Amino acid sequence: MARSINRSLNELFDENEKKARVITIANFKGGVGKSTLNSILAYIATQKYGLKVLQIDSDPQMNLTKKMYRTFKEPYKKAEKSFIEGIQAEDLSKSITIVNNKLDIIEGAWDMALLTNHIHKNLNSEADYYLYQYLIEPLKENYNLILFDVIPTTTAYTNNCVVASDYALMPTQTEEDAYDNTKTYIDYLITMKRDYNPNLELIGIIPYLVANDMVDRKLLKKYQNEYPEITFNNLIKRSARVKTWGLEGITEDRTYDKKTLKMYDLVFQEMIKRMAGIEL
Ligand SMILES: Nc1ncnc2c1ncn2[C@@H]1O[C@H](COP(=O)(O)OP(=O)(O)OP(=O)(O)O)[C@@H](O)[C@H]1O
Ligand SMILES: [Mg+2]
Repeated sequence: MARSINRSLNELFDENEKKARVITIANFKGGVGKSTLNSILAYIATQKYGLKVLQIDSDPQMNLTKKMYRTFKEPYKKAEKSFIEGIQAEDLSKSITIVNNKLDIIEGAWDMALLTNHIHKNLNSEADYYLYQYLIEPLKENYNLILFDVIPTTTAYTNNCVVASDYALMPTQTEEDAYDNTKTYIDYLITMKRDYNPNLELIGIIPYLVANDMVDRKLLKKYQNEYPEITFNNLIKRSARVKTWGLEGITEDRTYDKKTLKMYDLVFQEMIKRMAGIEL
């Protein structure tokens, strides 16, 4: 962890020869801030560090897509095809919306609900796991990071993202139920690594302190004791600013914007340094 953020970025990302690192941000539990974390990490990666990022919204509810358009109001160039049309054509290149010169997104859409049907009707059962991996391979040379946003299940939607990923990040609330869920989810990821994707690294649990009271602090300690290697040192706290960003898009010039961005920037930096620690 001794490397500086700039050194880690330079060593990980060769500008002349891009090969995206693929990250799934996931947890079994709904509403733990997965899509929010995804949206803010993509914002920081592109706006602050100048990385080229592709977000893939594998959620038919398209929360991530909506969040990104609240921040970046008018995408530069809309995709010709939807995500599911790209999947059906076995080519995602026309499903990419250019948001700005650093950020692209494959939008989530209600018709992603057809995914499992498509797999079972037209493909073999391997596609429950390996479809995205195959489809994103040709896209990797255009990006530094590819970020998957998933739904909190273990169906083809999430399995495909996890199998296509180099890293998994788990935002986890400091609540008793969430603690039990975390254990289950780690077991799921270990099984996925063993059976489908040996490259997968669980890069970390990112604690999300909902109340910052005694109970939260106690549970945080529990994560740190049980998973000392993978629990992030930098935490996310509940913040009114993040809620407002969820409604109005991310801003940088209002009260508490800087402080809130800093909280996520430290998480971003720790993520990059952990990746560098694994790879270099
Ligand atoms: N740090 C934070 N402070 C305050 N509110 C937050 C924070 N992070 C997320 N939220 C809020 O929590 C709610 C759920 O967040 P989000 O949609 O990111 O969760 P999710 O895990 O993606 O949910 P789902 O499982 O439904 O996809 C949103 O209203 C969001 O604005
Ligand atoms: Mg979500």
